[in-house]
Amino acid sequence: MSRGSEFVVVANRLPVDRITGEDGAPAWRRSPGGLVSAIAPVMRRRKGTWIGWAGSPDEELEPFEEDGMALVPVPQSAEEVELYYEGFSNATLWPLYHDVIAPPVYDRSMWDAYVRVNERFAEAAAKVAADDAIVWVQDYQLQLVPSLLRRLRPDLRIGFFLHIPFPPLELFWQLPWRRQILEGLLGADLVGFQLPGAASNFVRLCRRLLDVRHVRQDVFWEDRVVRARAFPISVDVGELNDLVERPDVRERAEEIRTDVGDATILLGVDRLDYTKGIAQRLQAFGELFGDGHLKPGQAVLVQIATPSRERVEQYQILREDIEQQVGRINGEYGEIGFPVVHYMHSSYDRAELAALYLAADVMVVTPLRDGMNLVAKEYVACRGDLRGALVLSEFAGAAAELRRGAFQVNPYDIDGLKDTLLAAVHAGPSEQARRMRTMRRRVIEHDVDRWAHEFLSELESPALPSLPH
Ligand code: ADP
Ligand code: F6P
Repeated sequence: MSRGSEFVVVANRLPVDRITGEDGAPAWRRSPGGLVSAIAPVMRRRKGTWIGWAGSPDEELEPFEEDGMALVPVPQSAEEVELYYEGFSNATLWPLYHDVIAPPVYDRSMWDAYVRVNERFAEAAAKVAADDAIVWVQDYQLQLVPSLLRRLRPDLRIGFFLHIPFPPLELFWQLPWRRQILEGLLGADLVGFQLPGAASNFVRLCRRLLDVRHVRQDVFWEDRVVRARAFPISVDVGELNDLVERPDVRERAEEIRTDVGDATILLGVDRLDYTKGIAQRLQAFGELFGDGHLKPGQAVLVQIATPSRERVEQYQILREDIEQQVGRINGEYGEIGFPVVHYMHSSYDRAELAALYLAADVMVVTPLRDGMNLVAKEYVACRGDLRGALVLSEFAGAAAELRRGAFQVNPYDIDGLKDTLLAAVHAGPSEQARRMRTMRRRVIEHDVDRWAHEFLSELESPALPSLPH
């Protein structure tokens, strides 16, 4: 491993997962989730190095190149996957940071594993980064890395970006290791959040818990200034444009439309996660058939549910519940040849997703809490034809930017959700065009390149010269 990269991304996952191909040979597949969708294009352009886990336990792999990116795998033992990844990251932090939709687990052995794996990531970054390099640490799985890395390599410029919400003081306070997490983040020069409210939550917590001084969102910590700022993440508009221009993608979109006959297509694309509000969406949609507002053959919900965190108990319960609910709705309202919900528990390539976005009349994004939600922005980016409608939860970060064009909804309010779904189904072409134009203006001007550029320019710019007296 050479010490020499000027730009290093550190994320729990590599952008590709190691899988066994159909022929039984090892192969690579793009990892799920918004983080990879956002960082991969930036990485290719900057020709940096990505440090992360290859997705299987107990696997020691050499650095390699894939898809135009230099990748450095960091191993995790089976026990660490259980305690650090499934445990502290996804059974403690994930629910705590998402409004405790599920109860967080507070377990000391999970915390110990979190510290251990964060140390390993920090050591890997310290080895790979060139003198004075930029290191960009990603997301809630690695919140201790900034301070651990600074201790090892004080020469580096360290940025941290949190892809998920950052909770208010009243929730964060529950965490037995709240002080350590804040001190971990304060190792960075710049801590980025999706929304200004999250940056304010962070600064308020620093003040209350660590008694630090701050001027607006500049926190004075040890002998440094740590900046907390909001950078709403976005999508690769150029890539999506290219995809929807491809004849095979357009043909595939037509094929999807033909497959459902004359039905209006409502589409959901989510990791199968309890934060995504899939159950509320299904309930509202099903009830529209029960009430007679929709008839089988007139509308169909295509729900793509990407497998996610399948060994975590809450995710297993969710999968059972959702699949039962789909079965019940189809059993109750479907007719031969006209199911009401098409449910797919699978991962797709970008071309298939783009075809689905092109085919969908209504994109349904109903999270109970979501840092941003890139699916909503991807849909908008794909609809250069100015057709289609976006139903968007008020609790998705994307709502701050897409408020004016989307059909906004509170997913906890099932009657409101039903009304909003109907309004979106019945929106005429001129209303669709007006709303879509407003949303596209925002997404096109604020794409992922601009997001990365704004974060990295802020990180590279000098911090305030002096501390307040
Ligand atoms: P999260 O980061 O919580 O998963 P986002 O909506 O922000 O949610 O990002 C999800 C990303 O994963 C999007 O870029 C989307 O295109 C991609 N994605 C979602 N479902 C699938 C799927 N079934 N196959 C491939 N990619 C998917
Ligand atoms: O954006 C949130 C996030 O947890 C990312 O950190 C991650 O890449 C994605 O969702 C998918 O989750 P996981 O890596 O647990 O499959």
